[in-house]
Amino acid sequence: MPGFEFMENKAIVGIIGAGTMGSGIAQVAASAGHKTVLFDADSRILEKSKSNLHKTLSKLVEKGKITGKNAENISSNIHFASSLNDFNECGLVIEAIIENLEAKRNLFLMLEKVVPETCILASNTSSLSITSIAAACLHPGRVIGAHFFNPAPVMPLVEIIKGVVTDTVIVDETQRIISGLSKTTVLAKDSPGFIVNRLARPYYGESIRIYEEGLADFATIDWAMKAFGKFRMGPFELMDLIGNDINYTVTETVWKQLFYDPRYKPSLTQRLLFEAKHFGRKTGRGYYDYSEGAVMPEPDQNKITGEKIVMRVLSMLINEAVDALYYAVATRDDLDLAMTKGVNYPKGLLQWCDEIGAEKILSVLNELGETYAEDRYRPSVLLKKMVKEKRNFYE
Ligand code: NAI
Repeated sequence: MPGFEFMENKAIVGIIGAGTMGSGIAQVAASAGHKTVLFDADSRILEKSKSNLHKTLSKLVEKGKITGKNAENISSNIHFASSLNDFNECGLVIEAIIENLEAKRNLFLMLEKVVPETCILASNTSSLSITSIAAACLHPGRVIGAHFFNPAPVMPLVEIIKGVVTDTVIVDETQRIISGLSKTTVLAKDSPGFIVNRLARPYYGESIRIYEEGLADFATIDWAMKAFGKFRMGPFELMDLIGNDINYTVTETVWKQLFYDPRYKPSLTQRLLFEAKHFGRKTGRGYYDYSEGAVMPEPDQNKITGEKIVMRVLSMLINEAVDALYYAVATRDDLDLAMTKGVNYPKGLLQWCDEIGAEKILSVLNELGETYAEDRYRPSVLLKKMVKEKRNFYE
């Protein structure tokens, strides 16, 4: 791209928003040896971020994960900025401000007046379109998505999202810089939920549906998904950990952005929990009761029911991954990598499809389709094709 030349030495990384994500990303960039500039519109939050960072680094030194000298270097790599003017030498700016389109557009417009022409502008948004954020910019080709997972210093995955007008050279350079932060990157098309937040929807939605139909309770579904599916956490305990406010909002957003496709329809059960402010662990109550003395319900450990539950949820998850491949959301390898690195799935969903057999997955979906006659269970065109041609995703 004309005018874009990247320095061999490490780019100065700017982070805007010093909340949960911004503070974590700043720690990651500074730990990888980048000079890092961190800013927040609220100076008290910036102060808090600074003191939290010192506490975190001291803990890492105590645990022997880094040396005192490392901690000093990381600290001195971060400049807590009092104005956007301090971003004037950045090679990459990642914004992690409030999840609001107008706020992000305004910020990028202001940044364009300050940063060098060669600076990449990345957004950590989890639900907004990169293309629509970029549309407000004078140079939309340099706007890209860099979606970190929480907690950023711990989670290895970063989804890189190419907007409709993002320049290829910007994609390559962003992947190079972020890989240099010891992160695994996957490339996703600018589409609702990107990879992880889209492919994971049925884990929650289909599990809630099974509960709503009275086929099993929360504890039994959680037990089944862990015992037979080998997932680290069951769907209900995971929703309670993520927060039913966040999880419900993500589901609703993906559904709306996909023009109300019934496959992504939110659940009334979760909406009611959301309205009752039963967000989960953080409020002491969600699907489960976390108050002191509360007794956790026991699962009904029936092997046949358990395996049926897993096959139903897994078939929906695999169908989602296959459809994402069909619609070129990402490559086969990136779709699988995203789920193992971003949400700790025991296997990539396409690899899982090969192991179970596309034919079996298709028959589960067809049976559900016949039973319910809902578009929710429609099999992906690619799944049907794989069965017809007796093909696997991996050879
Ligand atoms: P947060 O609420 O912890 O932090 C946001 C910070 O941005 C606040 O400190 C606020 O003062 C600051 N801010 C708001 N408007 C600003 C502006 N115009 N200029 C400068 N600072 C401004 O939010 P969190 O959770 O860190 O999320 C930030 C972004 O990251 C959002 O886009 C969110 O969707 C995304 N994200 C969040 C994840 C999570 O698990 N929390 C995971 C992945 C992405």
